[in-house]
Amino acid sequence: MILETIVTTQDSEGRTHIAPMGIHAEAQGFLIMPFKPSTTLQNLLETKTAVINYCDDVRVFAGCLTGRKNWPLTDARVISGKRLTNALAHCEVELVKVEDDDIRPKLTCKSLLTVNHQAFAGFNRAQFAVLEAAILISRLEMLPWEKVESEIAYLRIGLEKTAGEREWEAWEWLMTALDNFKRQAGL
Ligand SMILES: Cc1cc2nc3c(=O)[nH]c(=O)nc-3n(C[C@H](O)[C@H](O)[C@H](O)COP(=O)(O)O)c2cc1C
Repeated sequence: MILETIVTTQDSEGRTHIAPMGIHAEAQGFLIMPFKPSTTLQNLLETKTAVINYCDDVRVFAGCLTGRKNWPLTDARVISGKRLTNALAHCEVELVKVEDDDIRPKLTCKSLLTVNHQAFAGFNRAQFAVLEAAILISRLEMLPWEKVESEIAYLRIGLEKTAGEREWEAWEWLMTALDNFKRQAGL
């Protein structure tokens, strides 16, 4: 199963990097698969640790893709790193295996500690819509523009029916990024 999470890593000088990543949850641990080039990949290879943050504030996903990376952080417990302060739960992991690849290496990580912070508040369609739109926007260079437009139109239906303030804010950031891309590409 793939879980859409926020991965926090640190470089060897202690600078934290925040990135949305779909991670594969497996019996033995997690598989993180960053596309090259990636700061997450570089940091994991450097420091061999990361934090997987389970977060329902979709502004973090949309924000990271639109240049808003300054989210509140708290010290991790057993590794030298940071977690998102507003994570519902987090898991601190250690890198145990690297399968290199020119496009998308596979990083196998084992869990060292999982901590719950807040209760899961239930499913919300607008959160799903923001996540899907964020994934589309992270792949604009690779997708046909008609596909992007039709999928955004569909996602907007669930968003308009169910969004709260956080979801609307995240959606607006993504739509601004989409408009900018459209204008620059002359579409
Ligand atoms: C929900 C979601 C899941 C994503 N999953 C991945 C992933 O598995 N691998 C990846 O390289 N990028 C993924 N991305 C895109 C990255 O977050 C984005 O490209 C980021 O800049 C990664 O590069 P970095 O490690 O240099 O920050 C995802 C984006 C979203 C919104």
